[in-house]
Amino acid sequence: MDQAGVLREMTRKGMPPIIERKRYNGNTRVIAVTSGKGGVGKTNITANFAYIFSKMGKRILLLDADTGLANIDVILGITPKYNLHHVLNGEKALSEAVVEGPGGVKILPASSGVPGMAELSKGQKFTLLEEIDGLDEDFDFMLIDTAAGITDNVMYFNMAAREIIVVVSPEPTSLTDAYALIKMLYQNYKARCFMVLVNMVKDSNEAIEVYTRLSNATNHFLDLPIEYLGYIPHDQNVSKAVRKQRLLAEIFSDSKASKSMSKIIEKLCMKQPKDYDNGTIKFFGRSL
Ligand SMILES: Nc1ncnc2c1ncn2[C@@H]1O[C@H](COP(=O)(O)OP(=O)(O)OP(=O)(O)O)[C@@H](O)[C@H]1O
Ligand SMILES: [Mg+2]
Repeated sequence: MDQAGVLREMTRKGMPPIIERKRYNGNTRVIAVTSGKGGVGKTNITANFAYIFSKMGKRILLLDADTGLANIDVILGITPKYNLHHVLNGEKALSEAVVEGPGGVKILPASSGVPGMAELSKGQKFTLLEEIDGLDEDFDFMLIDTAAGITDNVMYFNMAAREIIVVVSPEPTSLTDAYALIKMLYQNYKARCFMVLVNMVKDSNEAIEVYTRLSNATNHFLDLPIEYLGYIPHDQNVSKAVRKQRLLAEIFSDSKASKSMSKIIEKLCMKQPKDYDNGTIKFFGRSL
């Protein structure tokens, strides 16, 4: 008997309706991939991470949180019928908007150029939280590809994650913007778990140099230690894959950038996330 049938039967017997919701096991790790400056590689990193995780047998939900200018669908070469806009409009349930991408990754796509979507209202943010929390499927990881900057939306999606990966490139502007983002998330939203990923570098020495500059600034001015997660070298194959609208880890799995990504994924899998409770919003609130 389906759920409606069960309810009818209970009403007929005068029993109070009890809706059994699948118990959420509370193990989903929610990780936001973010940056102060735009164009540092967040979308490519998040999509490839999702694919690599999935190939390892992890169940992945990939959320395109660049709600005004969606990119995940473009780099994956998929054309979803529905997206976050339809969900927040009440036209579709979240489960109807979630599509399956390469490697079996579940994706919640966003919209591009839709008025009112670039900055979500409080109501829309709440609905999204509720909808994701209500998904009847368990995931090992939820990866969030945020927009760049320090807008309310960026703050919201970062605060909905327990772990935050800040992507930086060797450009000085990328470092100053990353510092501004970390400062805002730490001082205004009490976020404390930051991992730095340095992208588009020559080698590990350059990556460590970039990380050290950022880490010195957060230690000195904010008294906040930040963790080094790893680096991804500059690699022409990344843009080759983008132009083909395929994932680097799928079609150039032997490339140096893809290998570095796999190394970082291994590191993330080994990590036991610190149980920081910054006292703010969380996806999968059922676990709290
Ligand atoms: N490791 C890399 N080597 C070479 N090119 C890279 C690398 N990582 C990213 N790129 C290139 O950088 C550009 C920006 O990448 P991407 O769109 O992923 O950045 P983003 O941070 O998501 O940007 P936005 O802030 O606009 O959302 C793309 O053209 C991509 O091909
Ligand atoms: Mg992007």
